[in-house]
Amino acid sequence: MNVAIVGKGGSGKTSISGTMARLLARRGQRVIAVDGDPNPNMALTLGVPAERIDDLPTLPTDLVERTPEGPRFTRTLEEVCASHSVEGKDGVTLLVMANPKKAGTG
Ligand SMILES: Nc1ncnc2c1ncn2[C@@H]1O[C@H](COP(=O)(O)OP(=O)(O)OP(=O)(O)O)[C@@H](O)[C@H]1O
Ligand SMILES: [Mg+2]
Repeated sequence: MNVAIVGKGGSGKTSISGTMARLLARRGQRVIAVDGDPNPNMALTLGVPAERIDDLPTLPTDLVERTPEGPRFTRTLEEVCASHSVEGKDGVTLLVMANPKKAGTG
């Protein structure tokens, strides 16, 4: 199932997404939540301990490579989850795309 949640800033997108992820996981579904927000805070909603949130692993930049046939993942989802995921409450697996510590030039 793919679900897209959009809305204005601060309207509860992350809270709803994280809550839905946890409810699905409680029902026994395997849930992988991907936080693509440049200011990621899904971990909070998923109940990741505060001390862990300060140092979340983020997806490696070489995860996708260009080939003549088009873009290609360099690792399997299982490999990425094993090396870069964080476990949230209710068994949700969290992947964080990026967590820039300061603004840079475009
Ligand atoms: N149903 C609710 N009732 C009261 N407060 C809520 C509710 N849902 C979310 N909040 C609070 O509103 C604030 C913003 O929520 P959230 O971070 O989920 O919004 P967002 O749409 O993801 O924001 P952003 O656009 O910054 O990513 C948080 O402090 C959250 O705890
Ligand atoms: Mg949000």
